[in-house]
Amino acid sequence: MPDHSPVALSTIGKKILMGATGLALVGFVIVHLAGNLLLLSPNPDHFNRYAHTLESMGALLYVAEAGLVFLFLAHIYSGITVYWCNRRARPQSYKKSGRAGGVSRKSSSSTSMIWTGLILFAFLIWHLWEFKYGAGVEQGYAVQLGSEVVRDLHRLVVESFQKEYVTLLYVLVMILLGFHLRHGFWSAFQSLGLYHPRYTGLIYGSGVVLAVLLAVGFLFIPVWIYFLGGG
Ligand code: HEM
Repeated sequence: MPDHSPVALSTIGKKILMGATGLALVGFVIVHLAGNLLLLSPNPDHFNRYAHTLESMGALLYVAEAGLVFLFLAHIYSGITVYWCNRRARPQSYKKSGRAGGVSRKSSSSTSMIWTGLILFAFLIWHLWEFKYGAGVEQGYAVQLGSEVVRDLHRLVVESFQKEYVTLLYVLVMILLGFHLRHGFWSAFQSLGLYHPRYTGLIYGSGVVLAVLLAVGFLFIPVWIYFLGGG
């Protein structure tokens, strides 16, 4: 008989929250990659102008950032609580883990979602500390854009990716991002009830393509800058 207890229902609610916030975050990651690809332009002004335009949005930027913080926190909260609920429901892990096959699509990335997620969270804190809250105009990272002096974010990013360990860590984390997205995309459709046997292959395949494009797109940036110096 299906379990309709409040605990089971709240777990379903959290899975829906995890799926919806996850898909919204995929949207953010796509837009973020598109903007960051300007780092590959030979003219640093292109990226700095883009970053400055975002910064100049004022209240609109604060609203967007508050929304982003909510999405990340809700996603992390629901991810961790669903993981604990699943563990409590099955305290002993399977003796032998493996691919479930068929429609469940259990794979190495589905079992490691919690770990790739936690590593991405740690990465995000380091990432924001380094770039968003890193050196600015006051620390000499300034550049003239037309009549304005703005933050030279391009220089900050290029200097970071000229350090071997930073580039290496970014490459590793972007590969983990790919694994997280590959399973997360598919899983979100299931949690939101947006699946049909006819579209199983299409949704799973789209998740794989999206994950590869995003991971390769992101890791290409530090590698390019490391080898070619950026700009
Ligand atoms: C090569 C990879 C990446 C590069 C070069 C990059 C670059 C940047 C830069 C320069 C900023 C600061 C923007 C500013 O202060 O105006 C930033 C902010 C941010 N990045 Fe990334 N990023 C990368 C990957 C990622 C990934 C994979 C995620 C998410 C999983 C991410 C999430 C964020 C977030 C949430 C912000 C703050 C946005 C805001 O509040 O305006 N980044 N990134």
